[in-house]
Amino acid sequence: MDISEWIEAIKSKTEEELSRINDSQALENLRVKILGKGGELTQLLRGMGSISPADRPRAGQMINAAREEILSLFSEQAKRLSLIERDRALKIETIDVTEPRPRHAFGSAHPVTLVLNEITECFVGLGFEVAEGPEIELDHYNFELLNLPANHPARDAQDTFYIDDHIVLRTHTSPVQARTMLTRKPPIRVICPGRVYRADEADATHSPVFHQMEGLVVDEDVTMADLRGTLDAFVRRLYGSDAATRFRPSFFPFTEPSAEVDITCAACRGSGCRVCKGTGWIEVLGCGMVNPKVLEMCGIDPARYTGFAFGIGLDRIASLRYGIADLRLLFECDARFLRQFR
Ligand code: DAH
Repeated sequence: MDISEWIEAIKSKTEEELSRINDSQALENLRVKILGKGGELTQLLRGMGSISPADRPRAGQMINAAREEILSLFSEQAKRLSLIERDRALKIETIDVTEPRPRHAFGSAHPVTLVLNEITECFVGLGFEVAEGPEIELDHYNFELLNLPANHPARDAQDTFYIDDHIVLRTHTSPVQARTMLTRKPPIRVICPGRVYRADEADATHSPVFHQMEGLVVDEDVTMADLRGTLDAFVRRLYGSDAATRFRPSFFPFTEPSAEVDITCAACRGSGCRVCKGTGWIEVLGCGMVNPKVLEMCGIDPARYTGFAFGIGLDRIASLRYGIADLRLLFECDARFLRQFR
């Protein structure tokens, strides 16, 4: 056979095989078979040695021309295949957005979060802002600036988790008061919700971690009447217009005078029941007028400004609201319990 016949044979065989190919892997295989290193047309070029030197240039030209032709056939076919393959992929990958799927399991807000949001809304409505502080706190803010110096007996009332001599897990949200006064100028009106820690054994009424919301107001001419009015407004908003507060004298080193506050039992509206042990009242917070010593330590002039502060136990309010008898339920995060608050 003469070389042009070989070339024609390879060309027509390639054309024939190309017409039957319908995926790009087969196209690539065929390309290697014809044009690759050991491919049929390449072999032909290698075989030039056996051709008489006079015929070689023409033979070389013919083979190269054939190579170009075959290459363009391949690229045409490649273009066609890529369109076909795209259509095929689109068909396979089409997502039926109307297909029904199993329902997603949605979480629910924790009961403490629910009351926290409600109480926050209430104080924001009265012009308070939310301030936050760290849960890992310096002794300085947790105690010192709140008029609880080292060896002060009142420190014993708060069984503290110490990280080292100077760092504690905050035992209350009151250090945020100190942080706020040190960084802002009066008028100050903030609430500071958050987690607090005490080294208590967990039982139905105690937990080593629980939640409080601190409140602080500092301005000129702030009086105990403002404190009472603010807490009354809060309680009425939370429990209805017939709810009231009752102040009992108490002691906190950071307030003077101090009070413990009872609110009308929401279960019996004050007539006396099991929840309030027949008294008609429930104790939910401590409060008082910010001790002038605390104002001074926090850089606020006690001759010009006065303030009041309060600390609300959020877990207690949540337990009362939802009739939760055991505090531990709030911290165990049993999904069956939490689902009820959806
Ligand atoms: N920090 C107190 C506690 O954890 C609660 C409290 C009482 C906060 C009186 C106050 C306050 O701001 O004025 O027991």
